[in-house]
Amino acid sequence: MSDANKNFPLNYAAAGVRALRPYVPGKPLDELEREYGIRNAVKLASNENPAGPSPMVLRAVEAAAKTINRYPDGAGFQLKKSLAMHLGVEPRQLTLGNGSNDILVLLAEVFLTAATNAVFSEYAFLIYPLAVQATSAESRVVPANGVDHPQALGHDLNAMLAAIDESTRLVFIANPNNPTGTWLEPEALYAFLQKVPPTTVVVLDEAYCEYIGAQAVRMSLAWLSEFPNLVVTRTFSKIYGLAGLRVGYSVSSPAMAELLNRIRQPFNINSIALAAAEAALVDQSYIEASRKANSEGLAFLTEAVTSIAGVRVIPSQGNFVLIDLGRPALPVYEALLHAGVIVRPVGNYGLPNHLRVTAGSTVENATFLTAFSSVLDNLV
Ligand SMILES: Cc1ncc(COP(=O)(O)O)c(C=O)c1O
Repeated sequence: MSDANKNFPLNYAAAGVRALRPYVPGKPLDELEREYGIRNAVKLASNENPAGPSPMVLRAVEAAAKTINRYPDGAGFQLKKSLAMHLGVEPRQLTLGNGSNDILVLLAEVFLTAATNAVFSEYAFLIYPLAVQATSAESRVVPANGVDHPQALGHDLNAMLAAIDESTRLVFIANPNNPTGTWLEPEALYAFLQKVPPTTVVVLDEAYCEYIGAQAVRMSLAWLSEFPNLVVTRTFSKIYGLAGLRVGYSVSSPAMAELLNRIRQPFNINSIALAAAEAALVDQSYIEASRKANSEGLAFLTEAVTSIAGVRVIPSQGNFVLIDLGRPALPVYEALLHAGVIVRPVGNYGLPNHLRVTAGSTVENATFLTAFSSVLDNLV
């Protein structure tokens, strides 16, 4: 290979892509079982719904499988119609994504260039810096609340406002945030929206909002008519239990949805996922049961983990808790893997002493707790 080609393909990639480090997902169950020769491992690493899919979803998936020789409805007409009814918005305000991750990336692609910047908080969801970096825009990472703040490690909205300038095209806010579980009160968010320049797009990522309750599902949508620069993103991966099918959406002004539609892949949601999401929306009793199970699981984990000396739990409104071990978390993570429990180390978020643990089923939570206590007892 000639010298000129030696650095191919890396040095020939777009500038933003060259510096990217890929997202590292939670360790899959199969992988742990294969690598460690373990059976019946427990995965509490990816904020999934532990209840399994709703039976209504399974029936819809089976029916939809019969037509997979056809392309899906690229416009997602039926799902948008059902979602619009459920949310009290118009179908033309909706954009469907291959997970809400897809929408976050589409927003970055629509608005960011090397001459612009995006603002987000320290410890915010890791896809934001990746999506921004890929476009070569500047990531303005705003220091989070300190450890003594009631929302320790959460977003500092005043500091985020101060970071916005005329080149800021996007502000990402996760409410509740992953991995911290921290949240923002509606009054504070509304006041923030009033102060953001009208030409800066505020992406309000509400992947976990259904865990807060039915009121939270409607709250931010009521602000859309007042703030055309607001985009609310949601997902079917969490409380709706469809993480494996990849369906998310945004609610925005119709003009914003029209822009996103210009770069969206024409068939970004497959036909099985479209049918499953529609069925999942119908089964609101599954959502209610999942919300209840989650708050019980969170309460159990929080209380039990807090009672362990030297360990602190950050209060959470998601389906997970962030645990401050007060010591490097990787050895604890590794020891838990050996005990057949997968949680999430968050050193890549700048939190090397923390572990994120998804609230699982009652049995999974108890398995985690037994393993966690024993690992801490045995580590010196
Ligand atoms: C805050 C937040 N936003 C968005 C997502 C993306 O989820 P999905 O692409 O599955 O919709 C996640 C996933 O963990 C998340 O934690």
